[in-house]
Amino acid sequence: MFRLSEGFVIETRDLRKLYGPHLALDDVDIQIPRGAVGILGPNGAGKSTFFKCLLGLITTTSGEGSVLGFNIKTQGDMIRSRIGYMPEYDSLDPDLNAIDQVRYAGELLGMNPAAAMQRAHEVLEYVGLKDQRYRKIESFSTGMKQATKLACAIVHDPEILICDEPTNGLDQRSRDFMLKTLRRTVDEGGGTVLMSSHVMDDVQEVCDRVVLIHKGNIVVNRPISDLADQIEKEVEAVIWGGASKMEEALQADGLKVRRMGRVMRVTLQDENTIDRVISIAAKAEVQIRELREYEPDLEDIFLLIMDKLGARVKGASELMTSKHTGGGRNA
Ligand SMILES: Nc1ncnc2c1ncn2[C@@H]1O[C@H](COP(=O)(O)OP(=O)(O)OP(=O)(O)O)[C@@H](O)[C@H]1O
Ligand SMILES: [Mg+2]
Repeated sequence: MFRLSEGFVIETRDLRKLYGPHLALDDVDIQIPRGAVGILGPNGAGKSTFFKCLLGLITTTSGEGSVLGFNIKTQGDMIRSRIGYMPEYDSLDPDLNAIDQVRYAGELLGMNPAAAMQRAHEVLEYVGLKDQRYRKIESFSTGMKQATKLACAIVHDPEILICDEPTNGLDQRSRDFMLKTLRRTVDEGGGTVLMSSHVMDDVQEVCDRVVLIHKGNIVVNRPISDLADQIEKEVEAVIWGGASKMEEALQADGLKVRRMGRVMRVTLQDENTIDRVISIAAKAEVQIRELREYEPDLEDIFLLIMDKLGARVKGASELMTSKHTGGGRNA
C-alpha cells in the first residue's frame, strides 16, 4: 500500500484524472510539506481537480495519493474530517444566517451541536463577521460570503486548510483581510494551508512554497525563496535613444535580450556580458543611462517559466493581476 513519506502531509504518485477523454491531471507526483503552499496556474490548469482528488470528492482515474496518512481513494471521510475545504463555487445557503450556516457545516463534519455552535461563534469572529453573524447570507457582499466560506472550512479546527481561489471577486480591502487571515491561520495554527490562485501577489503574501500547475502537470514545486534560481540572471540596461538599434546590435552579437521600451534585459552569459553590453552600446552610438543586475519579481519569474513551457500566454493580465507589474512585457 502507498505510504506517506516522512516529513510530508500530502503525497501523490502518478495521480491521473480524466473527465471523459479530457486529461485534467497528468500523472501527478507531488510531495507537500507543512506550511503555506500556493497552487498557481492559468484557467483550466487542474487546480480545482487536484484539490477535489485530495479530498476524495471525485474518483481518480489511476494513481495513488495520501493525505495525513489517509488514502484518497478509500478514506475520503477521514480526510474530510481533518481538512477544511473552501470551494471555489458558492457553497452557501442564502436563506440561512451566518451562524446557522457555520454551525451546520460543523455538524456535517461530525461535531456535536453544542460544540459546533460554540465554534461557529468563534470562527465568525475570527473571519471578521462577529456583528453580521445573525444576518441572512443573501444580504452578504462577496467578501462577506468568502469569509463565511472560510469560517465553515475552519469550524472543526482542521490540520490542513484547502482554499480554492479564496480572493476571487474580492475588492482590495476584503482581499487584504482574507490573505491576512490565511497567513494568521498558518502562523498561529502551525498547520498547512493550500491556496490556489491566478494571482502571483496573493501567493507571495501568504505562502512559503509555490506549486505551479500547467495543463495537469506540476512544473514547479519549491520554496518561493528558491524560485529565482529557476531562471537565468539578467542585466538591465536603460537606453537613451536608439533602443531598436541597440536591441538589434545585442542580438547580432549573440546576446539574448528582452526589450520593454527603453529597457533591455540581457541574459548574463558569463562575467564578460556586462562589458559586451557596454561596448556594443558604444559601437552602436547609443547611450546607456543605467546598468544594473535585474532582480526579477515573482510575476516575471512566473511568466518566464510559462514562456519556457510554451504556454500561450499573451501577457500578465491573462494569467493574473499584479500590484507591481513594473512595465508590461509588450510595452
Ligand atoms: N466536471 C468536469 N467535466 C469535464 N471537464 C472538467 C470538469 N471539471 C473540470 N474539467 C476540465 O478539466 C480541466 C481542469 O479543470 P479545473 O477546474 O481543475 O482547472 P482550474 O485550474 O481549477 O481552473 P480555474 O482557474 O478556471 O478554476 C479543465 O480543462 C476543465 O475544463
Ligand atoms: Mg478552479
